[in-house]
Amino acid sequence: MKKTVITYWSGSGNTETMAKSVAKGVSENGGEAVLKSVDSASVDLVREADALAFGCPAMGDEVLEEGEMEPFIASLHSADLQGKKLGLFGSYDWGDGQWMRNWVERMKGLGAVVDGNGIIAQLDPNQEALALCYELGKRLAESTG
Ligand SMILES: Cc1cc2nc3c(=O)[nH]c(=O)nc-3n(C[C@H](O)[C@H](O)[C@H](O)COP(=O)(O)O)c2cc1C
Repeated sequence: MKKTVITYWSGSGNTETMAKSVAKGVSENGGEAVLKSVDSASVDLVREADALAFGCPAMGDEVLEEGEMEPFIASLHSADLQGKKLGLFGSYDWGDGQWMRNWVERMKGLGAVVDGNGIIAQLDPNQEALALCYELGKRLAESTG
């Protein structure tokens, strides 16, 4: 079974809820979902994954969370991501999604095949946002054949 590794940071649980829907979309559509909070993630896990999803809310001033998620993302190189299907997702509040637009471009710059424009949800994700997360998981599972 092909493995999709889902790595996320979530302070108040909103992005974690999204991550769980992505994982459900993977595991209910023929894939193996490995769900990891970023504090227990590793670059090796990224390397051995068939597909990837990363989740992080908008923090600071439209940036990734700086204590754990930013260092993790900064530790990835194009050799780890080149040609690999990657879904991005996260929660926000008062902004307009700039952190996600920046993140999508950054990951494309490292050679990842980013799914769409990333999935963003304001605060606690509603059913529509969770359905998008589930569909992302399904696409990731299917993309790995
Ligand atoms: C320190 C801090 C900085 C934040 N910065 C932003 C921001 O720049 N833009 C924005 O839209 N929301 C910002 N937010 C709101 C969070 O993105 C929002 O509360 C989100 O739902 C948190 O997701 P989580 O429950 O997964 O931690 C910030 C929240 C905190 C606590």
